[in-house]
Amino acid sequence: MPDVIATYAFVPERGTAPEEAARWIAEEETTGTWTGISTRVEYVRRLDGEVLEVTPRGNGYVTRIRYPAEIFEPGNVSQYLSVVAGNLFGLKKLESVRLLDAEFPESLIPFHGPRFGIRGIRGLIGTLDRPHVGTIIKPKVGLSPKDTAAVASQAALGGVDLIKDDETLTDQAFCPLRERVSLVMEALEEVKEETGRQVLYAVNITTRADRIVARAEEAVNLGATMVMIDVITAGFTALQALAESPKIRVPIHVHRTMHAAMTRSPVHGIAMRLFARLVRWLGGDQLHTGTVSGKMSHDRDEVTGDNRILTGPCLGLKRVFPVASGGLQPGNVHRELEVLGNDIVLQAGGGIHGHPDGTAAGARAMRQAVDAWMEGISLEEYAREHHELERALKKWGVIHG
Ligand code: 3PG
Repeated sequence: MPDVIATYAFVPERGTAPEEAARWIAEEETTGTWTGISTRVEYVRRLDGEVLEVTPRGNGYVTRIRYPAEIFEPGNVSQYLSVVAGNLFGLKKLESVRLLDAEFPESLIPFHGPRFGIRGIRGLIGTLDRPHVGTIIKPKVGLSPKDTAAVASQAALGGVDLIKDDETLTDQAFCPLRERVSLVMEALEEVKEETGRQVLYAVNITTRADRIVARAEEAVNLGATMVMIDVITAGFTALQALAESPKIRVPIHVHRTMHAAMTRSPVHGIAMRLFARLVRWLGGDQLHTGTVSGKMSHDRDEVTGDNRILTGPCLGLKRVFPVASGGLQPGNVHRELEVLGNDIVLQAGGGIHGHPDGTAAGARAMRQAVDAWMEGISLEEYAREHHELERALKKWGVIHG
């Protein structure tokens, strides 16, 4: 049976040989521990981890470790993480260690993947190949349901495809979910009647594990056209529960707040790559993977590699829409599209609501930047005849590579 191969970058503790440090990972995560044990009997040894190779890279090493598939409980991703991303991070034998990726055999991917994926969401909105534009209602917390709906209406009139709650807005007293969803959906229905355009609303239904499916169902019953989960804080199996619920027949937008505690350091932690794999397997339809020119720290090759995990072939699972978000404004749009391609959702919060002429103008400016891209015209040239774009570029400038 094919096994699981995990790749780690690491720096051994001073005085420890790299091969020994790698062996500590393989042993800790399979049948061994810090000392020989009499209970590691012969029939157990088939489950030993194996260090396949150790090669120098930069100031440290990279190792590939084989974990026998039999160690994994098929379908239990919490358990998968406990093996490939478990105790090893605390071992003193390693000064630092970063899980770069883990590849799993088909037998351990018994998942259905996204219900909608890129094609399904394009079908809902009615686009063939243009990048989508989304907005996060800002301020991320504080607005009343009525004002949230008014901002959503302006953004929709301005031309966004998607409106979403931010990661910290759930069901607080100042903006209860029930009232918020009802009013936002009413506002978006009015925009649809006026413009004929379908704009999706992703409601953040993140909550405790035993209530998240019920909360998502409530949002859908109130008319929500998308639900959103903070997958790192809520847990990957919460996403799985949402995706497998027969009553939640809307796309799932996956936010990754808190990820950088694990993904940001180039020497220690867990790269985004495995999280991208898990989200696709478990049924996320859209996933934040970062920008290449926005406000958050990023590594261009990692972002494009993560997006390939979402959009490349994977056992026939539908393709996930990557979401670029964090510090975007119309002046970043062409830079993002040059690197990330057209199958992308470009999201802007401050870059829309911070437009000098307000939210609707901000949304129009973002769409104009995308339209310019589709027509092969530079931002500066397009801005000459598009006032909202011109005003945005004047405030924030054009970001080149
Ligand atoms: C996100 O959820 O990615 C952020 O809220 C983005 O906000 P910003 O566009 O204002 O940076």
